[in-house]
Amino acid sequence: MSGPIVLGIETSCDETGVAVLEGFDVRSSVLASQVDEHARFGGVVPEVAARAHVEAIRPLAHQAITKAGIHPDQIDAVAVTRGPGLVGALTVGYAYGKSLAYSMQRPLYGIDHMEGHLFAPRLAFEGYEPPAVVLLASGGHSQIVHVKAWGDYEILGGTIDDAAGEAFDKLARYMGLGFPGGPAIDQESSDGDPSAVDFPRALRDRPYDFSFSGLKTSVVTYLDKARDDGSLPSRPDVAASLQEAIVDVLIDKTFNAVEATGVEVIGAGGGVLANRRLREKFQEEADRRGVGLFIPSPALCTDNGAMIASVAVDRITDGHEPDPWTLDVDPSMRLGS
Ligand code: KG4
Ligand code: ZN
Repeated sequence: MSGPIVLGIETSCDETGVAVLEGFDVRSSVLASQVDEHARFGGVVPEVAARAHVEAIRPLAHQAITKAGIHPDQIDAVAVTRGPGLVGALTVGYAYGKSLAYSMQRPLYGIDHMEGHLFAPRLAFEGYEPPAVVLLASGGHSQIVHVKAWGDYEILGGTIDDAAGEAFDKLARYMGLGFPGGPAIDQESSDGDPSAVDFPRALRDRPYDFSFSGLKTSVVTYLDKARDDGSLPSRPDVAASLQEAIVDVLIDKTFNAVEATGVEVIGAGGGVLANRRLREKFQEEADRRGVGLFIPSPALCTDNGAMIASVAVDRITDGHEPDPWTLDVDPSMRLGS
């Protein structure tokens, strides 16, 4: 596969990601995770994140270029996440990407982080093409998007309160499972019974929307009561049951959108899609209905530089103009705006 060589930079939250793509071919993708630095605070601390990006970004960019086996002169364009995300974290990546592009006299493309997640299945599966319904579920966002064509998106629904990843993180903290909560609950659930506790599946009357704050209240209330009356199930049973409630809602609402739009392709992305139970149950349901499901590897579902570069590859191929040098980050960027 050939195409422009794009350096992609992602620093919207707590992972520094840099990748080199040649067309949609990933030549290198490297990551510096800050998980350990945030774990002792029980969540992402914006100031800590920004400082960690400052330290990681330059060596990581060098590493990505070396691993890709290219000379920096071969880079055709630089792509950087412009939003949404933490303002300090975004600023580090965008300023670095902008200065790199400017000094090399290469175009700069500021990318919407969520559009990056939308593109991740395209990197993983050559035959993946819109129209598609895409489930995006991460720490900051949960959305169902009708991708009519690349660049043409209709947001069908989303969370009215917490994002799915946020629900995992908050519930894990409450259960003493540490940070980040998604992988911890995924792990804890391995030996649990998903039907041990029937937690509520909220917003049945709104076909494409999610609400996870009610689940959080319900789990907390349930655990407090069960502790008092001595009926507490095992922690793996509780973890598996609450995970099942989140997974069921994400899958149900996605298929509601599939039925309404009549599309036969489903894509998915965002950190929550790394969840083993979600991947397994989603696949079973897609197979049962005869719909194509495209979930990239867990490493492409969580934040990375490759997904950011891939959006720029599409833009360049379509002849889009790069960002003006005067542009800055947009922490509240919205998909399609
Ligand atoms: O997309 P992402 O890497 O960063 C954001 O853009 O937010 O998503 C991070 C979120 C966190 O809330 C994390 O707990 C969740 O994804 N996550 C998972 C799993 N791995 C990461 N949630 C459930 N199961 C997992 N295995
Ligand atoms: Zn993300």
